[in-house]
Amino acid sequence: MPTTLEKLDQRRAEARLGGGQKRIDAQHAKGRLTARERLEILLDEGSFEELDMFVEHNCIDFGMDASHIPGDGVVTGSGTVNGRLVFVFSQDFTVFGGSLSERHAQKICKIMDMALKVGAPVIGLNDSGGARIQEGVASLGGYAEVFQRNVLASGVVPQLSLIMGPCAGGAVYSPAMTDFIFMVKDSSYMFVTGPDVVKTVTNEVVSQEDLGGASAHTVKSGVADVAFENDVEALLAARDFIDFLPESNRSGVPERPTDDPWDRQEPSLDTLIPASANIPYDMHELIQKTVDEGDFFEIQPAYAANIITGFGRIEGRTVGIVANQPMVLAGVLDIASSRKAARFVRFCDAFEIPIVTFVDVPGFLPGTAQEHNGIIKHGAKLLFAYAEATVPKITVITRKAYGGAYDVMASKHLRGDLNYAWPTAEIAVMGAKGAVEIIFRQEAKDPEKLAARTAEYEARFANPFVAASKGFIDEIIMPHSTRRRVALGLRKLRNKQLENPWKKHDNIPL
Ligand code: HXC
Repeated sequence: MPTTLEKLDQRRAEARLGGGQKRIDAQHAKGRLTARERLEILLDEGSFEELDMFVEHNCIDFGMDASHIPGDGVVTGSGTVNGRLVFVFSQDFTVFGGSLSERHAQKICKIMDMALKVGAPVIGLNDSGGARIQEGVASLGGYAEVFQRNVLASGVVPQLSLIMGPCAGGAVYSPAMTDFIFMVKDSSYMFVTGPDVVKTVTNEVVSQEDLGGASAHTVKSGVADVAFENDVEALLAARDFIDFLPESNRSGVPERPTDDPWDRQEPSLDTLIPASANIPYDMHELIQKTVDEGDFFEIQPAYAANIITGFGRIEGRTVGIVANQPMVLAGVLDIASSRKAARFVRFCDAFEIPIVTFVDVPGFLPGTAQEHNGIIKHGAKLLFAYAEATVPKITVITRKAYGGAYDVMASKHLRGDLNYAWPTAEIAVMGAKGAVEIIFRQEAKDPEKLAARTAEYEARFANPFVAASKGFIDEIIMPHSTRRRVALGLRKLRNKQLENPWKKHDNIPL
């Protein structure tokens, strides 16, 4: 006869098997880890403390009363990542396809409530067929309870979603309301409805991969942020990523020791800008040479690559970096890049992460495609996000800062705290050629006169001195000293206090 203590061990072992060995083998055969194996990689060794291991569903319809699996398709609890507390849930596809029942939802809500109370991030490992169909409205209610908590937690504790299997219905709407979404290539999918329903409703034949695979969402739709090769890579990246984030909106940014000198000079940056304004260069080089040890975690690298967003550290403390990328569409601001950067800026502001902005932007992208799809409203999102942000804002203009895009990219007028320009900066309403063709239209037919006017315009505006003479640029700095200037600025701004007028919330142009 097993003793009482042995019985507990037995029941735990049963619960750990989830949907059983056959289904675990099927999960492995698809190149996927199980819910528990994933947590082992995500969390520090031995740090996971599970809750609600014996929770079961309460459904009696469609034969469900005969099938109870302890844990009910989701493993929940807390643990640490490099010593810092996180709350986690990991859906178990081997149990009813990871689908969400009322009780499954209650388990997720419980750890979300605790995370909110104590101020720690929530990481969700999603592998779920969505609402548990047999439960009907009870599972829909369960989802809505999760959604409500996603919203209440937004801006209070960071929420990270890893999509690690086929996720449908509610299983994608909850991640959509979290801060960041990572996907696994060729094995994770996100769709509101799967290919079968698509075929029935629209007659469209499409594979899971084309409909909602990692490339569909990290390249085309921008719904997800980063794609990884496999489960292990995604989980290890999540560990690195969490290291950059504050635990809550009140905790301040994490700080970790660095040997990288704060005043490290980078002489190679003095020649980063090509001789011709039309030749691109890679803005990643400036970012990598500015942040500690070149360690930069890029968000949405494959989507709207004309703007770069991501996290780095200066003197061991996290900063959010936003930078125009001259290598892609000349770094122009369009709908996708405005939305991408606006969301990033708002995340940083919500969590008190200082923002460093590197500017080389020829303006907003003109044309009917952009106008008819709402560039005015979408561009305004980025303008709005920068303008409302009260965190320390340091801006460095490396080359072009033209037109409305000059205003938008954390300009002095939007309460930029320290606005620097390299000597190569050109701050003007537009490029010289476009400008003279408008203001000297009558001379446009005479190439010589036009060339002279262009040279005149360039001499007047293709530099940072006009803006500096008005105080719109605080200082013209040497490119090689960018890291030093940014580090000094961030030190100065550490105790920055700035509050927006009281309001219930703003009305950002959604
Ligand atoms: C109950 C489910 C389930 C679900 C899967 N299963 N999804 N059980 N409720 N939602 C079960 C299957 O019956 C199967 O059980 C096991 O999980 C594995 O599923 P398979 O279909 O064999 O796996 P696969 O071929 O990999 O396909 C995965 C899938 C597919 C693409 C997720 O199962 C699927 O399309 N499921 C339904 C998706 C869906 O429409 N969900 C409801 C969305 S509505 P057995 O015992 O046969 O192995 C929703 C509303 C929320 O979520 C509100 C949002 C605002």
